[in-house]
Amino acid sequence: MTSKTDNDLFLKDIWYFAGLSCELKPEKLLSKKMATLPIVFGRTKSGAVFALKDICPHRGIPLSYGKLLENGHLECCYHGWQFTPEGQCATIPSLTKDQPFDLSKIKVQTYPIREELGLLWVFLGDPLKSETVSLPELPLPLPSKPQLSLSMVFPCSLDHAIIGLMDPAHGPFIHQSWFWRSARSIHEKTKAFCPTALGFQMIRHKPSTNARAYKILGGSPETEITFSLPGIRVESIRFGRHHICGITTITPQDDTHSLITHTLFWTLPWLTLFKPLITFFARTFLRQDLLAVQRQQEGLQSNPSLLLIKDADTQALWYFKIKKAYAEAASRQEPFKNPLKKTILKWRS
Ligand code: FES
Ligand SMILES: [Fe+2]
Repeated sequence: MTSKTDNDLFLKDIWYFAGLSCELKPEKLLSKKMATLPIVFGRTKSGAVFALKDICPHRGIPLSYGKLLENGHLECCYHGWQFTPEGQCATIPSLTKDQPFDLSKIKVQTYPIREELGLLWVFLGDPLKSETVSLPELPLPLPSKPQLSLSMVFPCSLDHAIIGLMDPAHGPFIHQSWFWRSARSIHEKTKAFCPTALGFQMIRHKPSTNARAYKILGGSPETEITFSLPGIRVESIRFGRHHICGITTITPQDDTHSLITHTLFWTLPWLTLFKPLITFFARTFLRQDLLAVQRQQEGLQSNPSLLLIKDADTQALWYFKIKKAYAEAASRQEPFKNPLKKTILKWRS
């Protein structure tokens, strides 16, 4: 593997994580860059969310500098053209009565958007295909929104962010924290994996004994970890009737910036008391990954070829394989067929 490959492309015709529902306050506009595309998000008075290309078709200023009006239209800040949440131009204030103009010809591109469990998803690609591609499957039941969320921008490509996230071998070296595991405690792991609709899954199992945080939960927890394209990792821990679920999403902003968002859902009421502590742990973890990524970028500057080994890096290899298969299927206008097989992987971490 070289540090930059054809694989660095962004998948099309797939749902990307766009942000948290709570970021979209009614009547406020929010601009985000997703896979190099500028997108403006808004929520109408009725609560519906929308996503439009963040460029005014008149003279190109970002629409996000404008405002959402009482009538539900988005008004551009420059010359006041108005657009509906469906992207249709509704008003051009400079036109006089005797200047008939077919407004229906002016449209801003819209992106299909979905809101589920407090998370926003945007479909990038051919909007007509959005109905045929499902969102990454989440292990239900879950509370209606995450109890905790944390975001950081990593200064690296989507691929590096993803394989850094799924890499099981960096734990003992990068994540040395007294609350998680003692320094360099390395054990042999054997895990069974199976393919899923959009990726692969580490089949539900009892977590390793060197993960101290699990012990605090009591009972006999069982963990399942699912990775789905384009970059979603879902870790679900069930013990008895309770459930903790961590969703980590990676959304590319551009070739060299990736937004990592951790959200955590839980069904144990008492865990909420520990929210500040959990936030501290989660932030510590994410910062440890960030530091590793920043240092790695120093090395990647000289564009070295890289080496992925079996079995510790097999998940990274699977990621490249399914990403390629997805891109090829999309370009042939065919549904994605997962090329992976059920497999056992072994590594020490
Ligand atoms: S640039 Fe938006 S109305 Fe002119
Ligand atoms: Fe990590």
